[in-house]
Amino acid sequence: MDDRQLVILLNQMTLEEKIAQLQQLAANFYEGAESGGQITGPMEAMGMTDQMIESSGSVLGLAGAEQVIAVQKAHLRKNRLGIPLLMMADIVHGFKTIFPVPLAIGCSWDLEEAERSAAVAAKEAAVSGVHVTYAPMADLVRDPRWGRVMESTGEDPHLNSLFARAFVRGFQGSDLAGDKDRVAACIKHFAAYGLSEAGRDYNTVDLSERHMREYYLPAYRAALDEGCEMVMTSFNTIDGIPASGNVKLLRELLREEWGFDGILISDWGAVKELIPHGVAEDEAEAALKAIRAGVDIEMMTACYVHQLPALVRDGLVDEKLIDESVLRILKLKQKLGLFENPYRAADPEAEREVVFCEEHRTAARELAVKSSVLLKNDGVLPLSRDQKVALIGPFARSGDILGPWSWTGSMEDAVKLETAMTARVGADHITVAEGSGIETMTEEQWQEAEAAALAADVIVLALGESSEMSGEAGSRADIRLPEAQRELLLRLKALDKPIAVVLFNGRPLDLGGVYETADAILEAWFPGSEGGAAITSLLYGDENPSGRLSMSFPVSVGQIPVYYNHFNTGRPVDSPDADGRYVSQYLDIPNEPLLPFGYGLSYTTFTYSEPVVSSGIMSKDQPLQVSVTVTNTGTVAGQDIVQLYIRDISGEVVRPVKELKDFAKVSLLPGESSEIHFTLTEEQLRYHHSDLSFVSDPGQFQLFVGPNSRDVKSHSFRLEKAAVENIRHVL
Ligand code: IFM
Repeated sequence: MDDRQLVILLNQMTLEEKIAQLQQLAANFYEGAESGGQITGPMEAMGMTDQMIESSGSVLGLAGAEQVIAVQKAHLRKNRLGIPLLMMADIVHGFKTIFPVPLAIGCSWDLEEAERSAAVAAKEAAVSGVHVTYAPMADLVRDPRWGRVMESTGEDPHLNSLFARAFVRGFQGSDLAGDKDRVAACIKHFAAYGLSEAGRDYNTVDLSERHMREYYLPAYRAALDEGCEMVMTSFNTIDGIPASGNVKLLRELLREEWGFDGILISDWGAVKELIPHGVAEDEAEAALKAIRAGVDIEMMTACYVHQLPALVRDGLVDEKLIDESVLRILKLKQKLGLFENPYRAADPEAEREVVFCEEHRTAARELAVKSSVLLKNDGVLPLSRDQKVALIGPFARSGDILGPWSWTGSMEDAVKLETAMTARVGADHITVAEGSGIETMTEEQWQEAEAAALAADVIVLALGESSEMSGEAGSRADIRLPEAQRELLLRLKALDKPIAVVLFNGRPLDLGGVYETADAILEAWFPGSEGGAAITSLLYGDENPSGRLSMSFPVSVGQIPVYYNHFNTGRPVDSPDADGRYVSQYLDIPNEPLLPFGYGLSYTTFTYSEPVVSSGIMSKDQPLQVSVTVTNTGTVAGQDIVQLYIRDISGEVVRPVKELKDFAKVSLLPGESSEIHFTLTEEQLRYHHSDLSFVSDPGQFQLFVGPNSRDVKSHSFRLEKAAVENIRHVL
């Protein structure tokens, strides 16, 4: 079907049929669905008539080739004009082959692997009948109380932008229309959902437009620049107006300024939630505000189908708005080839071959290795093959290592730590005991753990959060490990055996008590289907940890938000002339996080030379060449991530104390050195000024190079005045 035919089709539709295209429903509304599909929000009576369902445009959370084909067939039998359904679902970090959660992927700093993970997810999802994934999530996050930080790649706008692009490339490929192994991507949650006040889900967001543009918008924008097909609104307010009814945010910024002409979908129920938010009196006003703002599809509430017909007839909504939305939806169906083949790649036989195949599991294992971060090591890791190990803790045997948003993944099929460690060194070298549950410990559990520990040379203690403790609606005010697990650690410590803790969790935790007590800590996050295998290879040194934190670990919850790219304040704690008391500080804890952005250890050590910089002056035509020599000073091969930061010493508005500008992964054999080169350009020094112009300031800068955002070597330079004046002129 071509564009002209789409318009003909549109003209054949009644107003009610058009509006029904804007309705998205969960699978349980449809004939042919054996399961209710994935339910990720409140289910309310929606008053849908058969006619509305038969004319509806898209389905949420349905997968499985046979089921999808059955639903599509039944739908096409009833739909007057034969318009196929779009099948959308949350394929966030894998379909059946589950990859590490996105926050973990962020810690890999590996864009190629991220892209591969999305391509694998797309292939499995496509063959199972999915057309669109609600991913990637590009919300910048600074508050680990928020359960959804596990879905983001972290606290840095530059790194998040690169990952958003990589995920979009992986999901959509370079030819979405022609490549049936790909699915359309939907960037979310527009906008700034990561700033949910106090880390409580669905909560208020309030920030200046400049701040939003500078830190929160770049990753969404990057995804759209990469060709991302869809955008999902966020649940929060922006400047007092909920995103799903926010004309300034959606129509003016997203559509008019950025030129986005793809489908804009609300989050689950977010149109009707304009009522409890307090900006709509009833469903009619909610529908009016959402359609005027530019929301094309209403997910799982029914204000549009019930209210828009009358709003159009009463002249309050121009039918042109509805036509534009319908056309966007039809265009995506056309692009995906659904008018020619409404089942697209759905194929039960291919599904059996492709889904959870060996090749995909290998990719998941490799990424889990790269995503894990060694947080501490007093020499207990790597383990040696001869050691007798007591594997203790609620995650020793658990399959709950996939993490939230892995609804089609199977915990039973996940490689558990016990299985992988036993396979690696033999059952005679491993004794397994649960020690405690996630939140409780019985005396019997303790006694079993104690006996195992006493008979062992070393303890591997697998602790963490259940997947229910993070993800959507998974906010926590106390982000320590549950008390039972902390108690287990302390009791084991009293036995005087070395302890390597492995953490399975979805957020940076408050590791107070744990960090000092454990001899080693490996942050595995939720590592996915191959988690046990990946972690085992790291524990035994078959692989060397190379993950680096993409989100800071706080000293305690009282510091939150704590992030590396903060402002200096007028009274910085390290100011030489500030009085000891009257500086910006806590009286009881440091300002700095326990573990900073970019941090991670290895089984080897690296040294960095002083950075060598081509000039003390940067101009528009003369970028700086920065080089640093990194040497592996240890005894095993390893990888480090060399990070380049800058600071604009005096801006028109205050600039962060550090900003990531570039990074490079380096692999070095023992004793080997490598010279790493970066080019730093004037363009990389630009930022949003008070008038929202995106330009740089002439004057003094610092650049920093190092293995993380804290341990850096610095160098000063100036940006020439003429360089900046020229650019302002051009703008
Ligand atoms: O895609 C999700 C979104 O991230 C949160 N609410 C539900 C949606 C659909 O499952």
